Amino acid sequence: MRAETAYHDALGEHFAARATGGTYNAYTDRPAMLELAGDVRGLDVLDLGCGAGHYAAELVKLGAVRVVGVDGSETLLRAAQQRLGGRAALHHHNLEEPLAFLADQSFDLAVMALVYHHIDARAQLLDELRRVLRPDGTLLVSTTHPTSDWTYFGGSYFADDRVEFPVGDGLTINYWRMTLQKFLGEFLGAGFVLEELVEPRATEEARLVDPRRYDRTHTAPTFLALRLRRP
Ligand SMILES: C[S@@+](CC[C@H](N)C(=O)[O-])C[C@H]1O[C@@H](n2cnc3c(N)ncnc32)[C@H](O)[C@@H]1O
Repeated sequence: MRAETAYHDALGEHFAARATGGTYNAYTDRPAMLELAGDVRGLDVLDLGCGAGHYAAELVKLGAVRVVGVDGSETLLRAAQQRLGGRAALHHHNLEEPLAFLADQSFDLAVMALVYHHIDARAQLLDELRRVLRPDGTLLVSTTHPTSDWTYFGGSYFADDRVEFPVGDGLTINYWRMTLQKFLGEFLGAGFVLEELVEPRATEEARLVDPRRYDRTHTAPTFLALRLRRP
């Protein structure tokens, strides 16, 4: 089934390029999340909404023993396949549906970078994550920062609705904006334990390549990243 929120065709190509060299993905979200991951050597890792495989490639390089990527976009999975060349197992799947093809307690770490806010069936997805993670396993999640959405879209901070965000080249993405209380509450309510919360800022490298966006991420929050433990 073609997942409506997955990044197809032109949007897929656009995101793949952004993920490679864009300040927000390559220099802000990804370095912060990989730091939160800590030592991944020898781990079985699930990358949900793996996109063009940038996280998966890093995780393999950092010593993860098995990396499984899941995404609903054929466009991005093709890019991931090219990037990874068989070093990760890739699955085309709509995250609105259960992860029936993954065994119980088969992963030490799950990464869900900039994906969760696209999903309607989030309670089901969290139940599935609890099922496939081993006890004491780790879940890393990043999302758009609630205050960034509030600043951009205006209205009430407490609005809980799907919004349409322009990403350039005439393309838009749509996702749920959530308050901090709602976002965090969904994970705690599903039984995960919060270990660390980070508001990532662009790395020093970005100051040289993209000073304008570097400054922006150091002035106002862009993303939120969590490390959670599955008890
Ligand atoms: C902003 S991109 C992030 C990709 C990757 N995690 C990264 O950070 O490079 C969001 C990803 O979520 C995927 N996605 C969104 N909704 C989905 C769904 N319902 N099922 C499967 N994948 C979905 C998109 O196709 C896209 O690859």
